[in-house]
Amino acid sequence: MNAAVNAAAPPDPGSLASHPRASLVLAPTPLHPAPRLSRELGVPILLKRDDLTGLGLGGNKLRGLEYIIADLRRNGCDCLVTGAGPQSNWTMLTALACLRYQVEPHVVCYGEGAASEGNMRLHRWLGTDVRFTGDPDRSSVDVGMAAVMAELRAQGKRPYLVPRGGATPLGALGYVRASVELAAQLTALGERPSALWLATGSCGTQSGLVAGAALTDAPYRVVGVAVSRPVAQCRERVRSLAAAAAALAGTAAAIGQPEVLDGWIGPGYGVPSPEGQQAARLVAATEGVFLDATFGAKAMAALVAECRAGRVRGTQVFLVGGGAPTLFAGSGGGPP
Ligand SMILES: Cc1ncc(COP(=O)(O)O)c(C=O)c1O
Repeated sequence: MNAAVNAAAPPDPGSLASHPRASLVLAPTPLHPAPRLSRELGVPILLKRDDLTGLGLGGNKLRGLEYIIADLRRNGCDCLVTGAGPQSNWTMLTALACLRYQVEPHVVCYGEGAASEGNMRLHRWLGTDVRFTGDPDRSSVDVGMAAVMAELRAQGKRPYLVPRGGATPLGALGYVRASVELAAQLTALGERPSALWLATGSCGTQSGLVAGAALTDAPYRVVGVAVSRPVAQCRERVRSLAAAAAALAGTAAAIGQPEVLDGWIGPGYGVPSPEGQQAARLVAATEGVFLDATFGAKAMAALVAECRAGRVRGTQVFLVGGGAPTLFAGSGGGPP
């Protein structure tokens, strides 16, 4: 394999280019071989470094935010409301993207007021308006967001609502576009991987990659590893979001049943798993790349297990999704 490929980003095909996009990502992100990890696992591994997207400490969510922030501006909104858990990479990157475009961010978190560490430390330092629902149930965020929307409207503001994780057809366009970028990098490397692996949470990233694989006629399967929601729910969400994103991107290619692997959540969402931590240590020790405990580590644990079981053939791409701030947060984040 050649060295990392970092040529200029390719032009957007067809109707992808017709969607306005705020500039947030330093694209293309590197795609590089992982030689020592490849030797350990017995198959060639390429790392797609979306932990290096550029804003804040990087991460996958910035790609969808490029379309979401552009849509907010087009609609004349002056503030944004979203939510998730206290260690959410999504809310942190959303707050930064908003500030960059002089939009006021408002964040709703489930649970009680959280310790000032990881992403919450960064929110407090930035002065983000963060509200807690007082309810550990993740869906309490949806009710909380509706209340903040009403409050802002009553103040005469023009708020823009983005669901948890930014998992909307428009947000998924970020990874449709990333697929075009990846296709150009693979061509330059002369690689035809058989699979692209990633962690699947709110499902927006996998949806975009599934639609993008159809758009670019990719040689690889997109393999999501469920780290948060039940696998049946992931498959249905990915299928419907991917179909909607494909329509927005102007491809008529059929979206089949998405591949989402079960069995890697471990003790629970946001709680490190022993297999995940072992896999993350392997990647840090062989390639010098940190994987976050909630997403990347658990997805890598699945890839490691499949390779060691001899079920993987040919080059594999692994999407490093970011989450660096959570390496510095208690049990929901970093290495034990
Ligand atoms: C670091 C990281 N990787 C992967 C994911 C999963 O992406 P999605 O929610 O689009 O499924 C997330 C989601 O927050 C994330 O923060």
